[in-house]
Amino acid sequence: MIRLVKVCKRLGGQNILRELTLHVERGEVFAIMGGSGTGKSVTLKHMVGLLEPDRGEVWIDGANLAVLNRAQLKGLRRRFGYLFQSGALINWLNVGDNVALPLREHTRLGRTDIQQRVAERLRWVRLIGDEHKMPAEISGGMKKRVGLARAIVLNPDIVLYDEPTSGLDPVTARAIRALIREVNDRLEATSVMVTHDILDATDTADRIGFLFDGRIEFVGTPAEVERTDNARVKNFLKGLDDQTSVAEAVPS
Ligand SMILES: Nc1ncnc2c1ncn2[C@@H]1O[C@H](COP(=O)(O)OP(=O)(O)OP(=O)(O)O)[C@@H](O)[C@H]1O
Ligand SMILES: [Mg+2]
Repeated sequence: MIRLVKVCKRLGGQNILRELTLHVERGEVFAIMGGSGTGKSVTLKHMVGLLEPDRGEVWIDGANLAVLNRAQLKGLRRRFGYLFQSGALINWLNVGDNVALPLREHTRLGRTDIQQRVAERLRWVRLIGDEHKMPAEISGGMKKRVGLARAIVLNPDIVLYDEPTSGLDPVTARAIRALIREVNDRLEATSVMVTHDILDATDTADRIGFLFDGRIEFVGTPAEVERTDNARVKNFLKGLDDQTSVAEAVPS
């Protein structure tokens, strides 16, 4: 379904992705975990063609993105929902209009249908009665949920979530995790979630890939992750640096 083959990407004078290979199966929720600044968001952007590899290939459903023309890429993008790490809301549109935007741009639905769909998606993300608020008037976690509602409003068949639960309280985070799973299964979609929260990954994902040094170093189901003896994965999950123990890292 989504296949990255030996993708190399250099950004800001650094080799961020180094022959990264990754295969996401149709219908699954795949989580990408890794430290801050390791290239998780960069990896996600390659999947939808927002970034192009310096070397290597990105395949979606048997199509190599590099050979698609502009119209084909646009058509493909329409199948994607994307929750940006920042939320990426339009500041001059209220919450409801932000969520309605993809419907107005890409469908011929009438006003009532749009209103209904927007209200339904806002209910899914636990934002009822907030339609008329402006982005500047809502919290970071609320922005994230508006971004999420917008990402899934077109019933996409591939959904990419960049840090869907960061900045949310534990109760809302859990509801969002359940929602991601439910949306994936209900829409028969394929989902990729970038996160550094192990609960996101183990509660929601079918498989988890760990990104270290520009590569996916380990892929496994939550159960496989739990019993792996891969030292880097274990240290990452324990919050330990690869080289240093906690005792060494904290100055006495
Ligand atoms: N457009 C860009 N220009 C230059 N450097 C970039 C660009 N985008 C990303 N980078 C660099 O690539 C590296 C990986 O960035 P990325 O945003 O993918 O990290 P991340 O794993 O998502 O981190 P976080 O968990 O903090 O979101 C960082 O060093 C970042 O500075
Ligand atoms: Mg990121």
